[in-house]
Amino acid sequence: MSDQADVLRTKMSRSLYESQKPPSKIIAVASGKGGVGKSTFTLNFSLSLQKASKKSLIIDLDVGMGNIDILLGRTSRYSIADMVNNELSIWSVIEKGPEGLSYIAGGSGLEELFEMDFDKTEFFCRQIESLESEFDYIFFDMGAGINSNSRYFLLSAHELFLITTPEPTSVTDAYGMIKYVHLNAPALPVYMVVNRVQSKEDGEKTSRNLEEVTKRFLGKEIKMLGYVPEDKIVWKAVREQLPFVLSAPSSRTSYSVNQSAQAYLAQGTGTVSSEDDGTSVRSFLTKLKTFIKKQRG
Ligand SMILES: Nc1ncnc2c1ncn2[C@@H]1O[C@H](COP(=O)(O)OP(=O)(O)OP(=O)(O)O)[C@@H](O)[C@H]1O
Ligand SMILES: [Mg+2]
Repeated sequence: MSDQADVLRTKMSRSLYESQKPPSKIIAVASGKGGVGKSTFTLNFSLSLQKASKKSLIIDLDVGMGNIDILLGRTSRYSIADMVNNELSIWSVIEKGPEGLSYIAGGSGLEELFEMDFDKTEFFCRQIESLESEFDYIFFDMGAGINSNSRYFLLSAHELFLITTPEPTSVTDAYGMIKYVHLNAPALPVYMVVNRVQSKEDGEKTSRNLEEVTKRFLGKEIKMLGYVPEDKIVWKAVREQLPFVLSAPSSRTSYSVNQSAQAYLAQGTGTVSSEDDGTSVRSFLTKLKTFIKKQRG
């Protein structure tokens, strides 16, 4: 009898704990130009968050070019494409990486989801809804640019991490992305990461230019999340399929990513704002469905 009472008490205290957990925050990681370091940054940044006891899930939403599992040197049984195309539960496609990081591989066949196939988007939404509160952060590792319908997933997120390098072409494309976001989702907070900087000054100059232009021409404030140096260690980590925050924890590159994660957590963006009414994943889904309805006309 006392066994049953114990089980009941444990269950009650767990559900009380779960109901108090803040809802998951959905962060889209995007860039104007391709190949600037979105996947590498997402992976290493989420590992830094895991080390800070924040639970993260990365969902690879890069159509046809997904590579999160490759960067981790793992093979996934299922991908997010398998989930939507074969109606699998999201829980069955989540894989466990190092430091307890959760991730879902990309895989080909995501196009139909982004073509707004009604049943597929509904199914995707139901699965994402079942994650409410389970993770502190859910990262969407997006493809580059804003050409496919995946842009609606980006516009519906709670925050956007925009990755650029100091190269003028990358910065111009990043500005194009900020402008697009400003016109279509003006309240979406944008965080900038300048990757592959030659020096701190190089990063600061790039971010200052972008901040100024964005303020002057769009009246929009963007926040700087951090700079990541150009470093052979990143290339080596990609080759060795081991994230650099784990293989080279004391490198300046790992230091900079850890700093960005610490700064991000310290500014209190760790939880979803109270006006979100504790139904954060649902607020993402409501926005996504509104965009999809508009798109269908
Ligand atoms: N800080 C860095 N220093 C040196 N090389 C880097 C750095 N960041 C990224 N790279 C290199 O750039 C390559 C592309 O990085 P990554 O795959 O993360 O870009 P991406 O933006 O996700 O690309 P895509 O647009 O194709 O999704 C990596 O394989 C790595 O070799
Ligand atoms: Mg990528």
